[in-house]
Amino acid sequence: MTIPHLTGVHPAWLPPEAFVAIGSRRTLIVADESVPAGTVRAEVADACARHGGALVAPGEAADLVLALTSAEPLPPAARAVAGPELGAEGFLLARRDGVTVVLADDPAGLLYGFFEVVRQGEAAFGAPRPAEPYRPALRRRMLDHWDNIDVHPVMGQVERGYSGGSIFWRDGVLREDLSRVRVYARLLAATGINAVGINNVNVHASEARLLTDRLAEVAEIAAEFRPYGIRVHLSVNFASPVALGGLDTADPLDERVREWWARTTDRVYAAIPDFGGFVVKADSEGQPGPFAYGRSHADGANVLADALAPHGGVVHWRAFVYNHRQDWRDRSTDRARAAHDHFAPLDGEFRDNAILQVKHGPLDFQTREPVSPVIGAMPGTRLAVELQVTQEYTGQQRHVCYLAPMWSEVLGFRFWGPDGRAVADVTTSGGLVAVSNVGDDPYWTGHPLAQANLYAFGRLAWQPSLGPAAILDEWIGLTFPGDGEALRDTLHELMDDSWRTYERYTAPLGVCFMVRPGHHYGPDVDGYEYTQWGTYHFADRDGIGVDRTRATGTGYTGQYPAPWSEVYESLAECPDELLLFFHHVPYGHVLHSGTTVVQHIYDTHFAGAGQAAAMRARWAELDGSKTVGAALHARVSELLDEQVRSAEEWRDQVNTYFLRKSGVPDVHGRRIY
Ligand code: GCU
Repeated sequence: MTIPHLTGVHPAWLPPEAFVAIGSRRTLIVADESVPAGTVRAEVADACARHGGALVAPGEAADLVLALTSAEPLPPAARAVAGPELGAEGFLLARRDGVTVVLADDPAGLLYGFFEVVRQGEAAFGAPRPAEPYRPALRRRMLDHWDNIDVHPVMGQVERGYSGGSIFWRDGVLREDLSRVRVYARLLAATGINAVGINNVNVHASEARLLTDRLAEVAEIAAEFRPYGIRVHLSVNFASPVALGGLDTADPLDERVREWWARTTDRVYAAIPDFGGFVVKADSEGQPGPFAYGRSHADGANVLADALAPHGGVVHWRAFVYNHRQDWRDRSTDRARAAHDHFAPLDGEFRDNAILQVKHGPLDFQTREPVSPVIGAMPGTRLAVELQVTQEYTGQQRHVCYLAPMWSEVLGFRFWGPDGRAVADVTTSGGLVAVSNVGDDPYWTGHPLAQANLYAFGRLAWQPSLGPAAILDEWIGLTFPGDGEALRDTLHELMDDSWRTYERYTAPLGVCFMVRPGHHYGPDVDGYEYTQWGTYHFADRDGIGVDRTRATGTGYTGQYPAPWSEVYESLAECPDELLLFFHHVPYGHVLHSGTTVVQHIYDTHFAGAGQAAAMRARWAELDGSKTVGAALHARVSELLDEQVRSAEEWRDQVNTYFLRKSGVPDVHGRRIY
């Protein structure tokens, strides 16, 4: 195997410099050639060829030893630090007597250990340190691509994609040169990702056929991911037995349907023995599902789970099910309730290899939502939390919006109070999934700084307790090696708080949406107010917000266990940032912060737009920096111009809207239109 190095594509967090520490040393690898151990050998050989080091044989002096615990005999340096079981994908890192040791129980652990040494660079070869075990907190760490084969007339090729076309398909066919996919796999493995869904959850006609007569394309893509320990998953159409199999039903309890799924799945595994499984969006936004046959979502998921079980595969069944044809006049239907209403009663009915994939919030990847109550309501079900690395509602990769702080809050949320388990603990057997932000753009993610979100997602999925600023620091060090403190400081200043900055100039206090319908970019306060989508803010001359209390509203607060059912119910206790998600309040309502709701709206919108302008000014000072390079600097500068423009548009539309509705002037007399 050779390590691909692309020209014309940004190296992201694996530039050649990232391999200097390893590549300039003498490394002993004690493992067979099985995948991905063979990859580690190829990586080290490639790094040594570039930086002057060497792979050495057992018995020769080495600076770095990478070994499987099953190796016989274990080299002395490894034997000296070997300890308790490390488990699947885990590894141990130690430094003793001038030798750095990585030990793993399986080849995947060796791969992750190798990339940990890459991440630490010279520091991995410094002072002695005791053996430290590293284990992934979550079993499945997955990115979902919403890629289509064809260009969809409304959504484009990548649904909610802001980085160009698909890296898999072009002009309706699989790309001939898939080396970019291999490089992508390498980047993902370096963050800890071990699964990728390759196609859109809205499965259109051509993409449905990836399951059957276009399966060879999936096999080719899987071959690119395999060396880096990543299994490929496929989004499938629940009605495939009808659409592809010629049956007159897709009823999950019909024997012919069960057989069709079993047979079809057998063929998938014959072509791709390490295939990961299926992803399904059913009975959601027009996709077919079990409701058509009067069956439950557990029935639907289980027929696929049973087909996958003999092969060790899993089905990711999405909980994003709600009425998308609501009448805005109907105040009794609350979209936020839908997933819990549908799924919580089914707890315990899903097969063990069915994973319920739940969006982190009850609505739809908004800048600020409470954590979905489904995650705390299904102890008898394997749960995965779904995030959006792609910035559909958070600036569409035109705005700097570092999302790790939001994800950390979600993963650290404790449904049962400070002594209870966190979201990250509830999802250990299911995992963490996110919609990818990658396309065929030379920077991978459109906005070069959006690479940090992709990096951070993988790192948090591996270890949810990592701090967002520390992850960003790693990313900066790897991506811009040798650029020194000035760049590091600038990027922290731009990015650490950028999610909250974005929140300040967009929809206030957890009220959600207020975006342009359809494409979801830019402000439109009433854009969704009279639509079918169930996303309303109910602003009138007196106040704003959605009453989701049990006492007087939709009762959504009752989907949480105590203490949150009480905290969210209570106007006095509800956190400011979620106030309008849970309560309808007058504009003069005083927040915990001491200011009124309407004054808070004015203040945060002026502040947020001001911060965007400050970010641009700060970035401009960097001109001429050596590793950032002129092209990347120019791309970010252009995007910051757009961010500033858009933030001002948000500020002025939101502030003007509320001034006109409420008639309450800004106490500081600033310009509102
Ligand atoms: C959002 C998004 C859609 C997507 C859907 C989903 O509503 O706008 O493009 O299909 O989420 O997660 O299924």
